[in-house]
Amino acid sequence: MTHCRDNESIWIEGKRPLNGRIQIQGSKNAALPILAACMLIPGKCVLKGCPDITDIKCMCSLLQSTGAEVEICGMKTGNQITVDTRNVRKHRLPEKYVSAMRSSVVLMGAMLGRLGEVCVNYPGGCVIGERPIDLHLCGLEKLGAQIWTEGNHIHAYADELRGTVIELPFPSVGATQNIIMAAVTAQGTTVIKNAAREPEVTELCKFLNRAGAKIDYAGAFLPEGRIVIYGIELSRLHEVSYEIITDRIVAGTYLFAALAAGGEVTLENIPIGQLDSTCDIITRMGAAIALDEDRNEVTIYADDRSKIFNIPYVETQVYPAFPTDLQSPLIAAACMAKGQLKVREKIFSSRFRIVEELRRMGADVTVEGDLAVVTGGRELEGRTVIARELRGGAALVIAGLCASGITTVTDSGYIERGYQDIVGDLTKLGARIKNRN
Ligand code: EPZ
Repeated sequence: MTHCRDNESIWIEGKRPLNGRIQIQGSKNAALPILAACMLIPGKCVLKGCPDITDIKCMCSLLQSTGAEVEICGMKTGNQITVDTRNVRKHRLPEKYVSAMRSSVVLMGAMLGRLGEVCVNYPGGCVIGERPIDLHLCGLEKLGAQIWTEGNHIHAYADELRGTVIELPFPSVGATQNIIMAAVTAQGTTVIKNAAREPEVTELCKFLNRAGAKIDYAGAFLPEGRIVIYGIELSRLHEVSYEIITDRIVAGTYLFAALAAGGEVTLENIPIGQLDSTCDIITRMGAAIALDEDRNEVTIYADDRSKIFNIPYVETQVYPAFPTDLQSPLIAAACMAKGQLKVREKIFSSRFRIVEELRRMGADVTVEGDLAVVTGGRELEGRTVIARELRGGAALVIAGLCASGITTVTDSGYIERGYQDIVGDLTKLGARIKNRN
């Protein structure tokens, strides 16, 4: 099953406002670790509301490569995935899938817990930065895993995992998730200090507790960021059916698209409470936001362009601060607002690759180290631009919605890794946009 389709592109005829309402898809970053966690559960799990995206298909292929049976049904309707791990027996993860998706590394903890061993090639860096996995490996070693490398492969083996105290120097999302999954069936209790508190970590804990694990994640929001996992016998884990939360990054992307293009857009089925930092920035930039917590909807009113201005400074930080995954969509929207915005990227080492493409469209954006400076209010010209990664690609679509003439975003397979149907969604909102190959 190939995952990233190449020479795909998205064609956009710009300068049309967005109006209407769309549903938000299931969360990629919640579904991926929960799919990995199914590896721990000897039986059949049913996940509802998974997004129909290539990264999910990649994770399903990885699970199948271990001997698990995976059924993907109704991806356009119920979006339901069934994972049956009763015949799991292989511990080597195929290089082609691991290299295609870095987050496959989060399978290590679950496979150590279930099989006691795993072999995975080093996922390596990607265009948004080095992305080492030292915190993952260090955490698994502290739980008793023996880890060694042979060439480009990492081997991990544990005849018994033992609970311990692990203090993370940085609240890494993936490392927190890996340690949690390895600790579920460890002997004794594991305390993670300075754990990540992103909603995708909380959801993983909820899913595992629903399957019989004993995880206290309430402390994740205390200053010391504490998650406690009480180890249980593997046989205590049981089959479970679980609804995946919707995607806060996709919702935020569409809010920035409406802010940039203008108009009135309602997003249905949003993860209420997970968009506060983004909505705060958008209202400070002059658009109005209405949150309906009963109906899980948010509406942005950005039709009065005379009110849209850049704010002086934003920096990306760990949750609940402004997320790094919305940094590129923010920069694209800031090109369409009067005044200057400075954005500091505090999470990844090089997440401004989109800037060179925006400058080719006429945007006034400069980068110095971890700081980008956007001087908005200039007309963007439609161009053929290159999506070099997922969120940067989505941000180029936003720029294309606002540019005069035609914009073609090439290598749009990157965008399909995280957005179920960005062309269909934006078409519903009145954009003139098409998939091209
Ligand atoms: C998750 O990646 C998300 N991916 C990312 O979303 C997101 O940007 C990131 O968290 C931050 O919120 C998934 O959930 C699948 P980290 P992850 O470990 O777990 C450094 C998207 O677009 N680090 O919190 O890889 C790392 O280099 C993707 O959907 C180490 O140094 O993020 C980075 O600078 C992109 N050593 C920082 O921590 C480690 O062992 C944050 O990484 C691990 C991480």
